[in-house]
Amino acid sequence: MCGIVGYIGARRPVPILLEGLKRLEYRGYDSAGVATMNGSDSLFVCKRAGRVRELEHALPELPPKANVGIAHTRWATHGPPSDNNSHPHLSTDERIAVVHNGIIENHSTLRTMLIAEGVNFRSETDTEVVPHLIARFYEGDLQAAVKQALGLIQGTYGLVAMCVDEPDRLVVARNGSPIVLGVGDNEMFVASDAPALIAHTRQVVYLEDGEVAVLDANGFQTTDLSDRSITKAVNELDWEIEQISLGDFEHFMLKEIHEQPRSIQRGLRGRALPEFGDAKLGGLNLDRRAFFDIRRICLIACGTSLHAAMAASYLIEELARVPCSVEIASELRYRNPIVDANTLYFSVSQSGETADTLAAMREIRRKGGIVLGVVNVVGSTIARESDGGIYIRSGPEIAVASTKAFTSQLLALTLFAIKIGRMRDLSAEAGRNLLRALAEIPEQIEHLLAEQSDHLKAIAESISSAPYVLFLGRGGNFPAALEGALKLKEVSYIQCEGFAAAEMKHGPIALIGDGTPVIFISPMDHLHEKTLSNMEEVKARGGRVIAICNPGDNEVRNVADEFIEIPATHNMLTPFLSVIPLQLIAYFAALYLNLDVDKPRNLAKSVTVE
Ligand code: F6R
Repeated sequence: MCGIVGYIGARRPVPILLEGLKRLEYRGYDSAGVATMNGSDSLFVCKRAGRVRELEHALPELPPKANVGIAHTRWATHGPPSDNNSHPHLSTDERIAVVHNGIIENHSTLRTMLIAEGVNFRSETDTEVVPHLIARFYEGDLQAAVKQALGLIQGTYGLVAMCVDEPDRLVVARNGSPIVLGVGDNEMFVASDAPALIAHTRQVVYLEDGEVAVLDANGFQTTDLSDRSITKAVNELDWEIEQISLGDFEHFMLKEIHEQPRSIQRGLRGRALPEFGDAKLGGLNLDRRAFFDIRRICLIACGTSLHAAMAASYLIEELARVPCSVEIASELRYRNPIVDANTLYFSVSQSGETADTLAAMREIRRKGGIVLGVVNVVGSTIARESDGGIYIRSGPEIAVASTKAFTSQLLALTLFAIKIGRMRDLSAEAGRNLLRALAEIPEQIEHLLAEQSDHLKAIAESISSAPYVLFLGRGGNFPAALEGALKLKEVSYIQCEGFAAAEMKHGPIALIGDGTPVIFISPMDHLHEKTLSNMEEVKARGGRVIAICNPGDNEVRNVADEFIEIPATHNMLTPFLSVIPLQLIAYFAALYLNLDVDKPRNLAKSVTVE
């Protein structure tokens, strides 16, 4: 949450910082600010509540010449969005500026101490204690002062500091909030996320917790908080600029929904072994024998990743015949989890930075458990701290509402289920059938997108004035229903909920009145008849049944008020297809309601605070 960009070099920083902020707006978008310096005796600072474009409008046409700058786009935690609460925050003498992601947990103690020492605070933020603390310790060495200040701070931070007295450097520190350095040609960049850097450099360095870097135009030096020097590896980013640009699409959410045929193909490439009905997953770091010892699998995640994990748990249990539980990371982390040697844990996270998932995973590892990551962002904290794992390869996800990560996470875990299944009861033929069906999914999604978009748009428009929408499914389509409800509520603000279809009559049926839209996922599988009965129950109470079904399903057509056809696939794989219309319905509803689809209110991508 919140985005940071910094630059030091020969170019004017403001355009670089603004462009970087726009690429990071998905990290938070309620206010933004920039500070630059040029060797003169003062900082140039501009901050505005609202989007980055408000900041852009507030900036003078030609901001003062400078060669160092820092900028920030905020997702408010302490204090509402306002000009004053925007970062950068300054020391009292306005010689030190800081941008910060994370939460300073002991900020109120520090604030009281600083006020007693005569400091005047200008904002309600937790961050503002940082520049004041740095100023308190500053004696001509910014790095030393930052380290002393960090010594007093409890909490998480990714931060960048600069000082007019040292106009040739930026000091960067990390503890719990991602920071990546970009190495250019006689210029250096820093950001909270790699998309802010791709337009300028592919050479990146990921800071670890407890590391501090000092940047000048010629490079960087890294030390720990005790001043021990640290050698850092420079990594090559493999993202393309097109992947983080809109191209011909109006919104990233739509672009990312449409990218799913490609992202699934990428996730399959080199991993499916059709001849053997098996899967090859290189990064698990488990020797063959370790697979035999697995007695239980536990998937840990939040939000959309949690739903993907839930959908995968049905596959894992069915194919591998191993009990598989799914845990909400924020609950698990505080539950003193029971960890045993024969349970294999997975942290499932698109960003690889979600604070709750990371904390739960650290707790499991502390207790001796083996945790593998199912992660999209290469080099992210969860990817680096896990014992091994699977990159889902869905490419950068920019829209705040996660879409393509869901299908890619499900794919990665399906391949894992096939692999472990093949070491147990799954026959080569059964494995082959699944891989054959998986290989067809990209084309089936392509077909669905081409054939159904207009129809889905009409359905979305017709439900967008409903006060309440229900999503129902069974088996692996129960988590797909949960995901449909999450997607619709987060981008359209329509109240909605997902349930296991049979649970409806245990309470939620009370919500159904005349015309209440109820979206059923009802493929022709072994639960088809059961779901049909649930549809009848909804109809009998005046509900409007919108059914996602397979072509030629006359039984559903006879009951449903409207139907959405998805291609038939292997029984276990329908969530790959049933989730697509649900993503599109959410997108079109938000569009119809004239809402900011890619930046829904109150949300931000990558929840790096608790
Ligand atoms: C919903 C959404 C969130 C994330 C959740 C976990 O569209 O994006 O629910 O899925 O915050 O994020 P990751 O997968 O990055 O751990």
